[in-house]
Amino acid sequence: MEYPMLERYVLDEYKMNLNAYKSKQLTRRVNSFMSRSGAKNEADFVKMLKGDCALSKKFKDYLTINVSEFFRNKDMFLQLEESIKKYLAPDKNSLKIWSAACSIGAEPYTLGIIMDKLTPNKKHSILATDIDTTILETAKKGIYTKNDVKNVDDYLIKKYFTVDGEKYIIKDEIKNRVTFKRHDLILDKYETGFDLIVCRNVVIYFTQEAKNKIFQKFYQAMKPGALLFIGATENIYNYREIGFEKASTFIYRKPGGN
Ligand SMILES: C[S@@+](CC[C@H](N)C(=O)[O-])C[C@H]1O[C@@H](n2cnc3c(N)ncnc32)[C@H](O)[C@@H]1O
Repeated sequence: MEYPMLERYVLDEYKMNLNAYKSKQLTRRVNSFMSRSGAKNEADFVKMLKGDCALSKKFKDYLTINVSEFFRNKDMFLQLEESIKKYLAPDKNSLKIWSAACSIGAEPYTLGIIMDKLTPNKKHSILATDIDTTILETAKKGIYTKNDVKNVDDYLIKKYFTVDGEKYIIKDEIKNRVTFKRHDLILDKYETGFDLIVCRNVVIYFTQEAKNKIFQKFYQAMKPGALLFIGATENIYNYREIGFEKASTFIYRKPGGN
């Protein structure tokens, strides 16, 4: 991006490394935010951010783009459910699952619902991470709107949510299955031993180089036989080079295992 002062501010204040984000797309977005906030130039904008907490928070939210929902691209989640049954034997194994860049929590709770459906009495671990601590607090609360749950079947709403007026509150039996933590996919170390990693609709904002590194680190973080589930507009063009095989259109598998 062409704004070094702003990059510095974002790294210091939000701990985000904008070098890894696609430059053109990011510059366009930043320009649009700057002109809407009335800043004359980069220096002026950084000064405004430093002096105005609310504006700074708004800018951070704008940069991180937290859009999400339960069962996002529902058909793909059905495919995922089939692949979990086929490859991961969830009735026999206790699975270690990671929802990376989980935003408001809709994604890890969707995984919680799927696992409860598949193996009601089994405890699998679900780690949910995001770079944005504010969004993690929202995720932990587990309170959603009708729009967030529009892809959830009625019988699942009845079973897994408490409906209170306009609010859809995820029940503790699902909530307790998920552990939330801050994690930056670019800068932080990755845990290991995962059976399933779900990372959707975040790497689209990263440069090819950053994406490559992330997919390689996912590979290292996965057990033999584990699955990686990515977003509907994404693909890992060099998946063979990394070592993956394809399990279905948006699901990659690390060879080996049972
Ligand atoms: C569009 S949301 C995707 C949410 C969910 N995975 C889904 O597909 O519905 C993108 C999320 O990525 C997070 N994010 C952005 N940069 C990140 C980074 N470097 N490391 C971890 N999370 C990041 C944002 O905070 C945001 O919550």
